Amino acid sequence: MNREVPTVPPRPLLVGMIAVLLAAPAAAKPPVYATPAEKAFVDALMAKMTVEEKLGQLNQPAGVGNNTGPAAMTGNEDQIRKGEIGTYLGTQGAVLTCRLQRIAVEQSRLGIPLMFGYDVIHGHRTVFPVPLGESASFDPVEVQHAARVAAIEASAHGIHWTYAPMVDIARDPRWGRVVEGAGEDPYLGSVLAAARVRGFQGDDLRKPDAVLATAKHFVAYGAAEGGRDYDVADISERTLHEVYLPPFKAAVDAGAQSIMAAFNEIAGVPMHAHRPLIEDLLRKEWGWDGLLVSDYTGVMELMPHGVAADRKQAGALGLRAGVDVDMVSQIYVKDLPAEVKAGRVPMAQVDASVRRVLNAKYRLGLFENPYRSCTDDGAHERAMTLTPQHRADARRMAQKSLVLLENDNDVLPLSKSVRTLAVIGPLADHRRAMLGNWAVAGREEDAVTPIEGLKAALGDGTRLVIAKGADIDSQDTSGFAQAVAAAKQADAVVMFLGEHPDMSAEANNRTSLDLPGVQEQLALAVAATGKPVVAVLLNGRPLSIGGLKGKVPAILEAWFPGVEGGHAITDVLFGDVNPSAKLPVTFPHNVGQVPIYYAHKNTGRPPSEQEKYTSKYLDVPWTPLYAFGHGLSYTTFRYDAPVVAKKTLAPSALQQQVSVRVTNTGKREGVEVVQLYVRDDVATVTRPVKQLRGFQRVSLAPGESKTVTFDLGFEDLAMYDDRMQRVVEPGTFTVYVGGSSDRTREVAFEVTAQ
Ligand code: BGC
Repeated sequence: MNREVPTVPPRPLLVGMIAVLLAAPAAAKPPVYATPAEKAFVDALMAKMTVEEKLGQLNQPAGVGNNTGPAAMTGNEDQIRKGEIGTYLGTQGAVLTCRLQRIAVEQSRLGIPLMFGYDVIHGHRTVFPVPLGESASFDPVEVQHAARVAAIEASAHGIHWTYAPMVDIARDPRWGRVVEGAGEDPYLGSVLAAARVRGFQGDDLRKPDAVLATAKHFVAYGAAEGGRDYDVADISERTLHEVYLPPFKAAVDAGAQSIMAAFNEIAGVPMHAHRPLIEDLLRKEWGWDGLLVSDYTGVMELMPHGVAADRKQAGALGLRAGVDVDMVSQIYVKDLPAEVKAGRVPMAQVDASVRRVLNAKYRLGLFENPYRSCTDDGAHERAMTLTPQHRADARRMAQKSLVLLENDNDVLPLSKSVRTLAVIGPLADHRRAMLGNWAVAGREEDAVTPIEGLKAALGDGTRLVIAKGADIDSQDTSGFAQAVAAAKQADAVVMFLGEHPDMSAEANNRTSLDLPGVQEQLALAVAATGKPVVAVLLNGRPLSIGGLKGKVPAILEAWFPGVEGGHAITDVLFGDVNPSAKLPVTFPHNVGQVPIYYAHKNTGRPPSEQEKYTSKYLDVPWTPLYAFGHGLSYTTFRYDAPVVAKKTLAPSALQQQVSVRVTNTGKREGVEVVQLYVRDDVATVTRPVKQLRGFQRVSLAPGESKTVTFDLGFEDLAMYDDRMQRVVEPGTFTVYVGGSSDRTREVAFEVTAQ
């Protein structure tokens, strides 16, 4: 199957030819919303502004109740009057934002409206599953809808701008922020980044329920050394372009109006000072004309990074790099006016950033209607909050996010006529675990816990025997006896195990991926009763739960599932919903395997049982515990061999079609996520063993077959060559199709040289 190396033309010719013939168009796209009217309006306004007012537009203080660093600020109405605040972080509520907006519009010299930014990450008051959970749905339509609902609620609370989607690729589950993104894969991450941007921004930014989307954190934040948040990312240019940049490009192409800089440095340059990546790549090469916001005190942190000696220098570096908005540091507004007046900071740099802030406000329609959906009595806000429809949407999203990892002997689904059900574990009634760590506007009292979900679904005929067994993270085993006794009385057992929500998300990193405390021992003690036991996991990262495998017959990964989590879990446990989600991230056997991801390189010595001197471990397999894309259903699916439309493709016509027939071979209707991966078998630089290039959710009745077709084009076959040119090289490509990255069938085709 490998390409015949001697038939390939000499390299310089090949690269040149391919680059000319096949390189994707590099021309910048015209900005989506910029119009001559916008420019004229902003020009006229800027002509009236003083240096202080300009720098004021770039200043973003933290409001009330959403502060992650040391420099939180409140009570700055006077600054608004003086035009020293352009945007706000973490200030919400229709009544409060209207009040502050009136001060800006009616009491400041130029009446420039404020823009309110907030972390609306996975729902607003109606909290949806954490982003990693949503991503497990492999359902961009549903994910887009979840973002739309979030925007509708958030905008009714006076918010104009969300600091989401988080599009960082995460291949190190020690890093707590793996929970906030789409997992390990750039393709899935790109599809979902675009879906979330579209959902937040809607079809017209001027509509009152649109919010600006922010793709964050630019860039390679997920590559933090040691899985320690904020730490150094020292990655190659290839890894940057192949792995970490694609979701940002997808967000930009979907019209994202904002991007947030990341806390990390890349190879010695902190992202808040990274002119080559912000100005040259994002703005010039990609043609993106949106608003770049710093992360929380990110400009100030150029000092501890060691690239700025003082605040003035930090501000100058940030502005020069193209960081438009200074979140919380207050450096631009306090330290830069004198620098600009003395000519040490170019006015042109200030103007470019001010223009982008004013453009954003213009695009939202704030100059015409500064009050948008905010109301002085909060009536609209109340009407749009936690509506039955939003709750139903959150429940459906949660149902689609639950991954069935194991189901030995078809223990699941349980029967609703079960007489006695034991409910065990520290998370069975944990309200915050429904919300996760970063649901800023979420309220515990809104959440349905698993016990509440079970009680609502099961009639009087079922007796629940409840025993906590152990705390989440303690060594105390004194509750085991009661838990085992509960299991012994029961016909079936459901255990709710996992992490505290504060064990993932920002600054919540772990060096162990094991179930915390004595939870694994608890599960094994309960399983030893021989009863049918189901472990439901609530957690924000891949866990090394191999100890449960083969002992606990059914394992359902529920993540932190949102306000409707208890209902959604119950829906799946009792078969009202057939699970369909797949893992968006690899689960390792233990933390020592990290980093482990499906799209790895083959190496010169790929792992082999027979050969000692190959790439593997002595103490654990080289394969993961659960592969990317894994997820079971209550039915089973058969894949026929995939078929390609053409055995060869000419470089001038890189259009391929791959079809596969999938059959539901079980007794229930089910949805299968059909996944397609591509490998470039031999290339001028090494390629991953597989790369996701397509997926489709397919619903099949028992016995039904459907033929699923994927279209592949230039981008699906392309790679960066050794000069970082985007090319498709001649040779064979293998296409893998299946229901998981480690269970696929394959077919090959060839791209010819001419
Ligand atoms: C986080 C961002 C967040 C910001 C504002 C920072 O600590 O890194 O993701 O948007 O705070 O809350």
